[in-house]
Parts: sequence; structure tokens; C-alpha cells
Amino acid sequence: MTPPVKAKLRALFNGILIALILLLVYGAYGYSSKNAANNQSAPVRSSGTATVGGPFQMTGSDGQIYSQKDFAGKYMLLYFGYTYCPDVCPLDLQRLTLALDSFAAGGGDISNLQPLFVTIDPARDTPQVMAEYITHFHPSILGLSGTDAQLADMAKAYKVYYQQGDVYEDGSYLMDHSSIMYLMGPEGEFVTHISSNEGPKAFAEKLLRFLP
Ligand code: NI
Repeated sequence: MTPPVKAKLRALFNGILIALILLLVYGAYGYSSKNAANNQSAPVRSSGTATVGGPFQMTGSDGQIYSQKDFAGKYMLLYFGYTYCPDVCPLDLQRLTLALDSFAAGGGDISNLQPLFVTIDPARDTPQVMAEYITHFHPSILGLSGTDAQLADMAKAYKVYYQQGDVYEDGSYLMDHSSIMYLMGPEGEFVTHISSNEGPKAFAEKLLRFLP
């Protein structure tokens, strides 16, 4: 094949691939929000995960030191991930951003809620790297970074799994990690979780349901 034909074919293939991915993503969101609507009469609080949460100390993307006490009186929305994540984390943070906008549009009080993006890759995700990264998402999100030991403590308290993958020749690597959002109450207590198949709409509806 001549190069231009090859390039055209590749462009066509990429287009189809992206369309398929979008279909899958929106299909899953549509399905889950429909389910959420059906179940609206009976919101179920997950039991058995009530021990999620606990004290922590981390460094914010603003350079300040934070512990759970700094968020007392507010709801915390926690997500654990990392800025080098090629797929899941940026999608989840985008979903979080859309959900927060939708929550505010639906009358939710965003000042009563602190979204936290906690890195599970503090070696690369310094507070500065986190600060730059979160500018792509909702302005209320605060990044949290820390030492390996600080992260290990916090991840243990929140039952978050993370593991470094193989290191490539250029020194880069992926992180394997659980992908879940936790909503914690004003006293640091576990309220509910939001799983990755809950789209922005279902996510926002959940926030509106659980927050005063
Ligand atoms: Ni990720």
C-alpha cells in the first residue's frame, strides 16, 4: 500500500476505535444511571466496609500539611490514583468533575464537600506535580501526596490496594491500584462509596441524596 492510503486507513481505524470506546463508556453510564433511578426508593448503605477511614497526615498540592482533622465538619470525597495513570484515573477524575458540577447545579453545597485526590505514587507525584495535574479537573479538588510511610498508613486505613508494576527501560512504570471513591462524613465516618460504573449523573444524585 502507498503511505497515504495506509495513513488514511489508520486514521479510519483510530476513529472507529474511539467511537467504540465512547459507546462503551456512555452505554455503561446510561445503564448504571437507569439502575440508580430504579433503586432510588431504597438507597442502600454498604455494610461491612464501615471500618474504612482513619487518621492520616499528608502534604497538599498547595504545600500545606493536612490531617483528617483539617476536614472535620465537612464531607470528604476521596479518590486514590496517580497522575501518570494512562486511562482509569483521568477518566475517574473527569467523572468526578462532571459529578461535582452536576451536584452544584442540582443545589448541592460544594463548600460542604472536600474532594481529595490522593496519589498512590508519591515518588513521582510530588505536591508540585499534583498541583499542576489537578488544574485539568474540578477546582475544588485538593491533591494529597506524602512519604511512602504516610501513604502506606492512609491506604491501610482506607483499604486501598496499590502495587508498582514492572519498570521499563526508560525508568517508567505503571501502578496497579484499586479504583474507588469514598464519601466520608463530617466526623470522618464512612458514608458510602461510588464505584467506577456510576456515571456523573448517578454520582451527583448520590451526593445530593447523602449530603444535607
Ligand atoms: Ni489509575
